[in-house]
Amino acid sequence: MRQLVPNVYAVGAIDWDRRLFDELIPLPDGTSYNAYVVKGSEKTALLDTVDPTKTEVLIENLARADIGKIDYVVAHHGEQDHSGAIPDVLVLYPNAKVVTNAKCKATLIDLLHIDEEKFLTISDGQTMSLGDKALQFLDIPWVHWPETMGTYLQEDGILFPCDFFGSHLATSSLVVDDEAVVYEAAKRYYAEIMMPFRTAIRKNLEKIAKLNVEMIAPSHGPVYDKPGFIVDAYKDWVSDQVKNEVLLAYVSMHDSTRKMVEHFVDALIERDITVRQFNLTGADIGKLAISLVDTATIVLGSPTVLAGAHPQVAYAAILANALRPKAKFASIIGSYGWGGRMVEQLTGLISNLKVDVLEPVTAKGHARDDDFAALDRLADEILAKHRELGIAG
Ligand code: FEO
Repeated sequence: MRQLVPNVYAVGAIDWDRRLFDELIPLPDGTSYNAYVVKGSEKTALLDTVDPTKTEVLIENLARADIGKIDYVVAHHGEQDHSGAIPDVLVLYPNAKVVTNAKCKATLIDLLHIDEEKFLTISDGQTMSLGDKALQFLDIPWVHWPETMGTYLQEDGILFPCDFFGSHLATSSLVVDDEAVVYEAAKRYYAEIMMPFRTAIRKNLEKIAKLNVEMIAPSHGPVYDKPGFIVDAYKDWVSDQVKNEVLLAYVSMHDSTRKMVEHFVDALIERDITVRQFNLTGADIGKLAISLVDTATIVLGSPTVLAGAHPQVAYAAILANALRPKAKFASIIGSYGWGGRMVEQLTGLISNLKVDVLEPVTAKGHARDDDFAALDRLADEILAKHRELGIAG
């Protein structure tokens, strides 16, 4: 338990050892489940709880903070890493009301079977007095679920935006102490969780710009005491601006695709295009997601396996398709033995992306001179497309 400002306490838990979120997202630096207590002169509110695995830590922190009573449990988001300990908190504080919007209430009833009578339903913009402090509730949908909301503590200028602006980073620092480290973690978090909702995030950024925010206290990672740093980063990530980069994700079984990748990467480098290359057999999917945030072009490289793409490449295509990066172009390179539908399959798997698919290059067996020449032409075309966007020299 630590004090953020007078009468505002951080009572969440650091999860140093967690290495996978949603059984999908790698957490190389662990994470935290941040919960906060706001103690007013008349009422006390707990903002979010923690993942159910860390309920005991939350309860110990509440005891240490000598809270006395909790009148309100504000639930910003139904996902269990923040809501999962609410039922236990309600047992300890039976008079507490769960304060949330109608959508989140329905989600919490579905996920946690909380009694309907326990809720106090609020609406967007509504203010709730705690005495000498007041909480203003703001719907901030799709960061990253439809019901997500935040709280603005007017007297202290603190915005509690739940997952929005968060980072999966286990650290003993309550506030950001190394912006470079937090930037990387926050970008990874954005890429994996927020990126599909760029349009909604833009609206939410406009909404919070109207507030006088002096501090952003998210539900994961450290608190931003200089909020301009993360707000500016988000503005960049959700913009339509792409970079002169090619993300090349590939697998090779017998070196045919690898030789094509090597030739192609050299051709791109000769054209002053930045390449982010991932061999998918051992790649950190989080780093691949980070590279998806800015890249102008995505190229998938695959051999042909049982008439289709290598399953690892298909997985990368499905992931990119789900994350919906702002890339403008895509292509496919690779090899085959006697036929197959690798290109058609991969093209179908990225149908969500608003990309022009540039002429794929496939080689029968080990690539020959004309295959390498086709790769050079693809590199030329990518350069020309990037020049049209004004991002290449
Ligand atoms: Fe951190 Fe969407 O829960």
